[in-house]
Amino acid sequence: MEGVTILLFSLLFLNKLYAAELDTISDLRFLTDGDTLVSATGVFELGFFQPGISENRYLGIWYKNISVRTVVWVANRNNPLIGGSPLVLKIVDQGILRLTNNISMTIWSSNKTTSENTTAKLRDNGNLVVIDQHENVLWQSFDYPTDTLLPGMKLGKDYLRNKEWCLSSWKSDQDPALGEFTWGVENDTRGYPQSKLKKGASVIIRGAPWSNNQLTWDIDEFGKSTIFTSVVVIEESSVSDMYNIEDKSILFRITLNSSEHLEQWLWVQNGWQNVLTSPVEACDAYNICNAYGTCSIKLSRDSCTCLDEKRFVPKNQKGWDRSDWSGGCIRRTPLECKNGSEEFIKYSNVKLPDTKNTWFNMSMSIEECGKRCLKNCSCMAYANPDPTRSICVLWFSDLLDILLLPKGHGGPDIYVRMASLELQAPTENSPPVSKNQGKANIKMILLVSFFAVLLIGSMITIWLCYARRKKNKAKPKWEGELFSASNIQEEDMEQALFSFSTIANATSNFSLENKLGEGGFGPVYKGMLEEGKEIAVKRLSKYSNQGPDEFQNEVICISKLQHRNLVKLLGCCVHGDEKLLIYEYMPNKSLDSFIFDKTQSMLLDWKTRFDIIKGIARGLLYLHQDSRLRIIHRDVKASNILLDHDMNPKISDFGLARSFGGNETYANTQRVVGTYGYMSPEYALDGLFSVKSDVYSFGVLVLEIVSGKRNRGFITKPENEINLIKHVWRLYNEGSSLELIDETCAESCHPPEVIRLIKVGLLCIQHNADDRPNMSNVIMMLGSDGVLPEPKQPTFLIENDLRVVNYSSSTFTGGSLNELTITEVNAR
Ligand SMILES: *[C@@H]1O[C@H](CO)[C@@H](O)[C@H](O)[C@H]1NC(C)=O
Ligand SMILES: *[C@@H]1O[C@H](CO)[C@@H](O)[C@H](O)[C@H]1NC(C)=O
Ligand SMILES: *[C@@H]1O[C@H](CO)[C@@H](O)[C@H](O)[C@H]1NC(C)=O
Ligand SMILES: *[C@@H]1O[C@H](CO)[C@@H](O)[C@H](O)[C@H]1NC(C)=O
Ligand SMILES: *[C@@H]1O[C@H](CO)[C@@H](O)[C@H](O)[C@H]1NC(C)=O
Ligand SMILES: *[C@@H]1O[C@H](CO)[C@@H](O)[C@H](O)[C@H]1NC(C)=O
Ligand SMILES: *[C@@H]1O[C@H](CO)[C@@H](O)[C@H](O)[C@H]1NC(C)=O
Ligand SMILES: *[C@@H]1O[C@H](CO)[C@@H](O)[C@H](O)[C@H]1NC(C)=O
Ligand SMILES: *[C@@H]1O[C@H](CO)[C@@H](O)[C@H](O)[C@H]1NC(C)=O
Repeated sequence: MEGVTILLFSLLFLNKLYAAELDTISDLRFLTDGDTLVSATGVFELGFFQPGISENRYLGIWYKNISVRTVVWVANRNNPLIGGSPLVLKIVDQGILRLTNNISMTIWSSNKTTSENTTAKLRDNGNLVVIDQHENVLWQSFDYPTDTLLPGMKLGKDYLRNKEWCLSSWKSDQDPALGEFTWGVENDTRGYPQSKLKKGASVIIRGAPWSNNQLTWDIDEFGKSTIFTSVVVIEESSVSDMYNIEDKSILFRITLNSSEHLEQWLWVQNGWQNVLTSPVEACDAYNICNAYGTCSIKLSRDSCTCLDEKRFVPKNQKGWDRSDWSGGCIRRTPLECKNGSEEFIKYSNVKLPDTKNTWFNMSMSIEECGKRCLKNCSCMAYANPDPTRSICVLWFSDLLDILLLPKGHGGPDIYVRMASLELQAPTENSPPVSKNQGKANIKMILLVSFFAVLLIGSMITIWLCYARRKKNKAKPKWEGELFSASNIQEEDMEQALFSFSTIANATSNFSLENKLGEGGFGPVYKGMLEEGKEIAVKRLSKYSNQGPDEFQNEVICISKLQHRNLVKLLGCCVHGDEKLLIYEYMPNKSLDSFIFDKTQSMLLDWKTRFDIIKGIARGLLYLHQDSRLRIIHRDVKASNILLDHDMNPKISDFGLARSFGGNETYANTQRVVGTYGYMSPEYALDGLFSVKSDVYSFGVLVLEIVSGKRNRGFITKPENEINLIKHVWRLYNEGSSLELIDETCAESCHPPEVIRLIKVGLLCIQHNADDRPNMSNVIMMLGSDGVLPEPKQPTFLIENDLRVVNYSSSTFTGGSLNELTITEVNAR
């Protein structure tokens, strides 16, 4: 008691705060250089600091008890103190907290309040508050966030006071001044709230429309109950979103850094662990695919598709083909808005579109919401963004920045207005979401975190950490026959794994009727998933020597390769010693069934052929150069080029060797190393292969497409040419290349293009691999009119030169001829 009196006395006397561990500034106590204010249990500290090597001094708040100085708030960010002038922070004028320099100039101050006996206090959550004697908060630092969002801080907007709470980046690590980036609620409209990361006025990323839901999921399976709760408040006068962490011993913060990234940090032992960063990848970018487009979460450049490819088409197909997504998509059948003639199609698992142009009602059933939307012709869609409530959101403009999330993700549904004509076709988008809350949501959490991170609500990512930690100990419980596969992301698992029963159902138990053909790796079946999606299933019962885990890892790895000109591997299924590969189904089968068939080849006019060649070139370039795994296909040939319904070529069977444990597989069958007729001399004779071997095969394929003749088995009587290459070479040297053109497309052909293509083909099949162009050269040659180099004479291999045994392994076509796939994959 006596000690306290003495302390008070000395404070009164010196009018200065000496004791470091105090949390309050009052009329009687001020703060100056070297002093700090410490929150009650010692979590946060307020004082003066200099960022990095900067000479400038600031008043700020940081964590007290950790080894790394981490500033979470800065008072005078735009007005630093330069040099060593002493500083004083005190309460003046009945409640204003003021920072002054040695000549009493105000450096910074809190806003005017009119109360006596006010004090300033640093609270344990990091909030510096100015309170009156009844503890009413008159001012608080939480209302003026800088670049850090702590638990309990709000983002949002107060419409009445025209005040907003948003994060704004520092200029740089060394300079807390107001930077270029902000993260906050949409500022200028009253649509349903969502957060956006902006650079000045331009949007960089957009968080999902606000929802309480993310934070209420049960995560008991991972041994930890909910550590976050989210509070989304949406009222007439204000909107705000905030997260809380119940376990106060967890140090967690979100920052908006000076180079446009939102980062989430968790203090683990001796350092900050970055638990999430965004944007992560191309699809995070705002509105990359434009109206009614959706971005694929995969790492492909060709990342945009229309929301529903049956009902929407690219507005500018040419641009779309060049990966120029600016036009977005439009409805195939325009809306007419005749009374009662229109309906809605439901798309599940979506990140809801930009809510900038929306109307909402916080208590309206989804049925009533639908009726509301139908009544107004400009209403394009409706949805309930928050499954914990009954909110109705109506969209009054084209839907922008939609993402289709992986199956089973459990994101919200959106109902999109459609002309009645469009109602019959089945939706492309995944089967209905399971109503089953609980366990399924765990996966949902893992998945959603990639996309919804941008919501404050999605602090769920921290759960990721817990989940992963726990998961390393306990085997995850994937359903049915599925196996665990470590070091792949849950997201991929979801997309890549099918249960055996699903596939058996889809193919009517692998019935003969569904069989498309028999290849070297096993039979191929056509199937249809419950939601109406057609698939092709390759059944590899015997050939793989790999364990199920490796197999799955490989397949998942390969399924990440996505390009418009590669057949999409949708996933796999492992069941006992059955291994199934699931591909998208290609209705037009393979290129060989067209070009080598008298009647079918009529369908391929010159332009189509040229487009096919360009498409194949782009697909190969992707495999060789652009994909994350460098892939040499080793078996480029007509029967491995599949055609979709628009006759776009898609390379198939790439990357398969990798999933097949390499050469052992083939040793089991026969000695086969490629397909006769397409093999480069160095590969056929010496077993040497490189990307240039693929270029060679491509060259042969070009000549086949132009001529409509197979290289192998090509014999012309008078000259006794034993293969197409010899024939082409002769015609070329005689200056009569045009004779080569397939008569079925001769009418539509464009002679200079024919001659150019033949020359490109010949350049690709030159004997010396170094002389051959690479695929990017090829694409340039195909796309320009520049002068081409003169090709050197190719080698005319005859069958006896080769050690190759023929073997049939066509993928989808029913085994036409001489096929087998061997693909080499080198990880980068
Ligand atoms: C400060 O950290 C140490 C070790 O990191 C811990 O033992 C101690 O309890 C902490 N003190 C406070 C007040 O949090
Ligand atoms: C205040 O501080 C500045 C910088 O340290 C110094 O140059 C100046 O002389 C000081 N003024 C007074 C009145 O102490
Ligand atoms: C004081 O209030 C104004 C507007 O009301 C605001 O722009 C300013 O940032 C506030 N300053 C502080 C230090 O709180
Ligand atoms: C401020 O506190 C003093 C002493 O506790 C008290 O006498 C005075 O009435 C208070 N002023 C107001 C406006 O409450
Ligand atoms: C919001 O609008 C206000 C004025 O209308 C502006 O000062 C502020 O910078 C805007 N904030 C963001 C994040 O765009
Ligand atoms: C911002 O965050 C990104 C992603 O974590 C990081 O790569 C970058 O270096 C950060 N920039 C700064 C200035 O800290
Ligand atoms: C549509 O039909 C309903 C009843 O069928 C009618 O009440 C309503 O006025 C009609 N609306 C328009 C725009 O024709
Ligand atoms: C929202 O819709 C409900 C049900 O139709 C209605 O009772 C309520 O008045 C609406 N609220 C607003 C703000 O329009
Ligand atoms: C349809 O909604 C728009 C946007 O809210 C509104 O401006 C328009 O008046 C509405 N039209 C009808 C017929 O209700």
